[in-house]
Amino acid sequence: MNLKIYIETYGCQMNVNDSEVAASILTKVGCTIIEDISSADVILVNTCSVRDNAEKRVLGRLDLFRLEKKKRSGVIVGVLGCMAQRLKEQLLKNNTVDFTIGPDSYRSLPAVIAYVREKGDKITETNLSANETYAEIEPIRTDSNGVSAFISIMRGCNNICSYCIVPFTRGRERSRDPKTIVAEAEQLVSKGYKEVTLLGQNVDSYNWTDPDNPTRTVNFSQLLELVALACPNMRIRFQTSHPKDMRKGVLYTMAMYPNICPHIHLPVQSGSSKMLQKMNRKYTREDYLEKIKTIKEIIPDCAITTDIIAGFCSETEEDHLQTLSLMKDVRFDGAFMFQYSQRPNTFAAKNYPDDVTEEIKTKRLNQIIELQNALSLASNQKCIGQTYQVLVEGPSKRSDKQMTGRTPQNKFCVFDAKGSKPGDLVYVKILTCSSATLMGEIVEHHKTLIEKAEDSIEDIRKKIRKKITNTIAPQKNKKK
Ligand code: 5AD
Ligand code: SF4
Repeated sequence: MNLKIYIETYGCQMNVNDSEVAASILTKVGCTIIEDISSADVILVNTCSVRDNAEKRVLGRLDLFRLEKKKRSGVIVGVLGCMAQRLKEQLLKNNTVDFTIGPDSYRSLPAVIAYVREKGDKITETNLSANETYAEIEPIRTDSNGVSAFISIMRGCNNICSYCIVPFTRGRERSRDPKTIVAEAEQLVSKGYKEVTLLGQNVDSYNWTDPDNPTRTVNFSQLLELVALACPNMRIRFQTSHPKDMRKGVLYTMAMYPNICPHIHLPVQSGSSKMLQKMNRKYTREDYLEKIKTIKEIIPDCAITTDIIAGFCSETEEDHLQTLSLMKDVRFDGAFMFQYSQRPNTFAAKNYPDDVTEEIKTKRLNQIIELQNALSLASNQKCIGQTYQVLVEGPSKRSDKQMTGRTPQNKFCVFDAKGSKPGDLVYVKILTCSSATLMGEIVEHHKTLIEKAEDSIEDIRKKIRKKITNTIAPQKNKKK
């Protein structure tokens, strides 16, 4: 199948990774992935349904793809991902779209493309699967900086937050075989990657059971440890955590390994327990604050970022003020902030009126953004004068004499290149900042994580064993 494939991706990092899986499946059958749409035989758009405006953006792009089809005969257009899953045949009514393929059906891409090209017919493939994890497919990092990559460790979500479309578009939760995750991380190391982000809708509920021996299971903290030990010179990140499921074990593992970055993305959604209950989040404001306290106790330098929804159904001014006050209590280092967007067929859409006016939603969102900007600035100002390990990702947009990268806490940092190149680990002293960026100068060059780590891996292992003995089974080991 010698076709040129152009892929455009919208939405979350999971979608970015799914596009890489789709690219891998198609290159295996002889296709080439191209970056220039004007010579494509097949145009694929991987889509997001999480908010209405994400869907509108994709519909706008379809108009442009229509022009490509007019220019060259034989070009076909496929919609992948969450919109394909949600709208199925409905999307085929759009003249531009030739096929739709849901998130669990990418293995059928070659067959679907062949069918559309041969038969000239439209088709939709949107069966959700109970066990598809694309475990053995090595994604093709089409859009990568060669330094940092994503690995999907699980798919789907079992949480059914009342506002969220994801459980409907991505199906039931399933965990990927840890051996294939570790193998993929090791592959990335051998290709020169220096950072990996383990991805899942709810990583804390990662739980793999060996199909050949159901008594053998691996949970998320064990998986983190496996990857940390397998790739000691690789920085490890993960997202997204869920406040109801995050366990101390994960925090201890983070604290123990210098290559696991001290950053947790812990979406709170609202600061009002009443709203949280209505959202079906299964924790209260107090539970959330308790979790934050525990994180800070175990990992004092941990950055905490969050997601917040403004104007969920029946949200009062008092509820909104509680969100603002929680933000001030936690002092988030960063946040993604959204206006509530009703999604068809979710529990909220069926049961709660979308009764906060657009005007009030916007006003509350703006207040949340304004407060977060101040908190982000304050968080960055605390970094001034400190030196951070920064993984160099590439030149800055403004000047190629400057490089950019991220601190372990995931703060974006700009500094004079001083001979550093993408993939180097440098130590940057922070001199100034804005709410979005740290600016500093390199004070130390090119150390690997292991060279810099205060402890050798063997020391770390010893520490872990001691910690586990002290925390999990203190009585057993105490001498009388
Ligand atoms: N409206 C607004 N924001 C939403 N999110 C999920 N569903 C909706 C919705 N219907 C946000 C949540 C989630 C993030 C990925 O997107 O904050 O954590
Ligand atoms: Fe959606 Fe909640 Fe699952 Fe996140 S945890 S994907 S918000 S249902």
